[in-house]
Amino acid sequence: MVPDSFRTDESHSMWVGGVRIADLAEQYGTPLYVMDEASMRSRIESYVSLLSDVRVNAQVFYAGKAFLCSAMAQWLRQWPVGLDVVSAGELYTALSSGFDPESIAFHGNIKTADEIRYAIQAGVRYIVVDSLAELQMVEELAGKSDRRVPILLRLTPGIDAHTHAFIRTGQFDSKFGFAMADGISDQAVTLALASPHLDLMGFHAHVGSQILETEPFVANAETLLEYAQVWHRKSGWWPQVLDIGGGFGVRYNAEDDPPPLRPMFERIAQKFEAMTPPGCSVPQLAIEPGRSIVGEAGVTVYRVGAIKTVPGGKCFISVDGGMGDNIRPALYQAKYAAGLDGHGPDEARNVVTVAGRYCETGDVLLSEVTLPEAKAGDLLVTFVTGAYNYSMASNYNRVPRPAVVLVANGQSHVWVQRESWQDLVRLDRLMHSPS
Ligand SMILES: Cc1ncc(COP(=O)(O)O)c(C=O)c1O
Repeated sequence: MVPDSFRTDESHSMWVGGVRIADLAEQYGTPLYVMDEASMRSRIESYVSLLSDVRVNAQVFYAGKAFLCSAMAQWLRQWPVGLDVVSAGELYTALSSGFDPESIAFHGNIKTADEIRYAIQAGVRYIVVDSLAELQMVEELAGKSDRRVPILLRLTPGIDAHTHAFIRTGQFDSKFGFAMADGISDQAVTLALASPHLDLMGFHAHVGSQILETEPFVANAETLLEYAQVWHRKSGWWPQVLDIGGGFGVRYNAEDDPPPLRPMFERIAQKFEAMTPPGCSVPQLAIEPGRSIVGEAGVTVYRVGAIKTVPGGKCFISVDGGMGDNIRPALYQAKYAAGLDGHGPDEARNVVTVAGRYCETGDVLLSEVTLPEAKAGDLLVTFVTGAYNYSMASNYNRVPRPAVVLVANGQSHVWVQRESWQDLVRLDRLMHSPS
């Protein structure tokens, strides 16, 4: 729930990465995204070591959609991890930071011809194809290139992971992938296998995000293996890779209790071995964790502004950020834990609502949370904001996006600069003067 290096001192000041949060706010301004290097490092290292211990060949692809910037792509290069990108912009960010294209999986439920061309020219590890129209387009563009293009097919296995509807993707009526229920996935496999320009390397399925159970992941692996067995019996083809996606849950609040991953990956690896037909190689197990690597590493620091109690007694604390830097509460009622810097656990507490600064009634960061008595100028810190906060940020109301600062060993490093007012108008063009 808090970054690994988080602590409070005797005056209840909060520290992350050996740096006082109040000093970060002073130096970089607020709102401010702070990422704890130690938390990201420990999580990525535990995925890498966990997967190197399981009995099958396995590969981690960090899901860049959770949090990506040039420095993040560079930082990831310390480990043998790949990157899952979903747009030409993410691909460009990775490549321009020196990330090896061979370690990049290119996803997305709609990719433009330009994006597909770019991915083919860059030489990504594979393109994860999402629809029949896209399969045709990739095949056509692959035909114009000088190599067979490796692809995975994204399948929707009909697994209903218990999570919020907007972040559930494995059920049959999802916008993602080829449904396995109505024969579309069979058509896609048939076309891919027949193509002289495509190399069908395997299947992918992602069943949802913030999943706090083991069974959906195991069921997903099993479903992909069973489907591969069907194709092996039909055609002799057998996948080199089966990618079970990401979605491993984190502790947003005290009630969230993610299951241990080691026994789950061991069960999945056993299935990979047991369900591989004799004479075939066990496929590579690929996973795409995003949130579980960066989520708990991040905190956001806000400055408290107006405080008001409205008729009926509800108390609003307004802060200098909100849905522009964290859309998740407004988008899917995500709940966050928060604290006030410099306030001890023994102080009297009130139930308050923390409102954002954006012109939407729904811009509420925290509904009915219990916090110590706040005053204007205090620093409010929200926890577990490392995933899907910066990456989903917007300039709504023409508010510049906050800086991202990495903290480690008592030092802070700017990973993304705060936007300026000039940045806001940088791409604007003035009207032609009237003639
Ligand atoms: C295909 C795919 N892979 C990986 C992820 C990462 O999920 P998470 O950040 O929850 O691990 C997502 C999230 O939407 C996804 O759609």
